[in-house]
Amino acid sequence: MIGRLNHVAIAVRDIAKATAIYRDTLGASVSQAVAQPDHGVTTVFITLPNTKIELLEPLGADSPIAKFLDRNPDGGIHHICYEVDDILAARERLKREGARVLGSGEPRIGAHGKPVLFLHPKDFSGTLVELEQA
Ligand code: CO
Repeated sequence: MIGRLNHVAIAVRDIAKATAIYRDTLGASVSQAVAQPDHGVTTVFITLPNTKIELLEPLGADSPIAKFLDRNPDGGIHHICYEVDDILAARERLKREGARVLGSGEPRIGAHGKPVLFLHPKDFSGTLVELEQA
């Protein structure tokens, strides 16, 4: 069911510093930082030949990544995103298999303007999984 790895998201405290490491030390192609107030984060996308890295910095008082950064003060891998062809069909299959969909269970429009869902990390080997309809 799952397709390509769309991105790996890394939560950081200082997105300018993290972006400079990817751009200058690792020689990657990086985007401008974009505030995403609907999602409580500022994002930078790093385009690699086979996937993307999404840097996430908290934005606003109740950012969904604030607790993660409290537990991981140096930052860390926050989630991985797999592409699916049909997000509603994917959701129904996952629910049948007993996996938990986070939030309302309805797809939201994610940082790339496409419908996404998040799945409970306890059901996926301790990893927060995002599904994006490609
Ligand atoms: Co993501």
